[in-house]
Amino acid sequence: MTQLPGLLDTEAIRKDFPILDRQVHDGRKLVYLDNAATSQKPRQVLDALGEYYERYNANVHRGVHVLAEEATALYEGARDKVAEFVNAPSRDEVIFTKNASESLNLVANMLGWADEPYRVDHETEIVITEMEHHSNIVPWQLLAQRTGAKLKWFGLTDDGRLDLSNIDEIITEKTKIVSFVLVSNILGTVNPVEAIVRRAQEVGALVCIDASQAAPHMPLDVQALQADFVAFTGHKMCGPTGIGVLWGRQELLEDLPPFLGGGEMIETVSMSSSTYAPAPHKFEAGTPPIAQAVGLGAAIDYLSGIGMDKILAHEHAITEYAVKRLLEVPDLRIIGPATAEDRGAAISFTLGDIHPHDVGQVLDEQGIAVRVGHHCARPVCLRYGIPATTRASFYLYSTPADIDALVDGLEHVRNFFG
Ligand code: ALA
Repeated sequence: MTQLPGLLDTEAIRKDFPILDRQVHDGRKLVYLDNAATSQKPRQVLDALGEYYERYNANVHRGVHVLAEEATALYEGARDKVAEFVNAPSRDEVIFTKNASESLNLVANMLGWADEPYRVDHETEIVITEMEHHSNIVPWQLLAQRTGAKLKWFGLTDDGRLDLSNIDEIITEKTKIVSFVLVSNILGTVNPVEAIVRRAQEVGALVCIDASQAAPHMPLDVQALQADFVAFTGHKMCGPTGIGVLWGRQELLEDLPPFLGGGEMIETVSMSSSTYAPAPHKFEAGTPPIAQAVGLGAAIDYLSGIGMDKILAHEHAITEYAVKRLLEVPDLRIIGPATAEDRGAAISFTLGDIHPHDVGQVLDEQGIAVRVGHHCARPVCLRYGIPATTRASFYLYSTPADIDALVDGLEHVRNFFG
């Protein structure tokens, strides 16, 4: 078996993930390489979800009975865990949402309804990048359409990085918000946060970072990032679906208006007006995703128990091996950085002129799960003149043997299509 420096004890880790023992297509061993779409869940998270419903289920912040108090303590305890995981200065800066898309939509809508100095209007500009997930494009397009603000973006270099050569023309005195992805879900690129934040701060613009593909894979420190908002989702980091996070700087959360109205987010309500609860509750209308937050808390315990720096080192070794092995496959073109430096554990590629959907289907027949398509980042495919890519993405349980299986599978695809 291939040994690489920095690998985790995947034999032990894989025992925590029952689904990884599954066989598919009449006895084929499952090789799960679709972690950028969603990660698998360890037994510890599955147990926490089951235990929550078996022992504690109640609505939060409302009841005076034991279960309501215990459920509230678990839900708010999950908020503490998230705050510690991202090094937030205050637990009140952690807002639970449904997913990262909702977190990003929340920021766009806060700014759309805000008063000065945050207000986005027809005299202001919004900056994004060409490598964003649709979740960090469409909310800003909607906001621009509604307010008349101008939407601008950084383009891409041929090797899949942000082209910051014209940063002073893209981010100007008119820029109100710069929103960009930390690690691209399609290219795998890790973006230079410091340079973008420095320029945004020079002109007094707010910074929002989509950390959906970063939070599961590397230590995340919102204070070191120096952003104003950071969004991510639970299901890509061993947690359940239905839970996302928006971290925001406390003074902004105090000043900015809510987006969704309803129960839980109010202080008082009369027939003519309402006042709002302090953040984070101001932004959490209705019954929140309680079990899902508890599950995310368990996922954070699990990942922290292994160590995010160790997970990062493991994935770096796996990605380096994957880049090397994939480049040995004839006709394979990596879309994105063809190196393990400054890149995350998602690698997109094309294989000659075989359509990615055909690649994905033949790999699936061999038990290998990858994602094909535009990965909700269609402008990237347009930029590189391709309809779609095949994407393999790794996590803490991925092994060199998984990469070898992928490379053998791709050989089979090439033979199949002659
Ligand atoms: N955003 C997820 C992905 O990249 C669904 O696959």
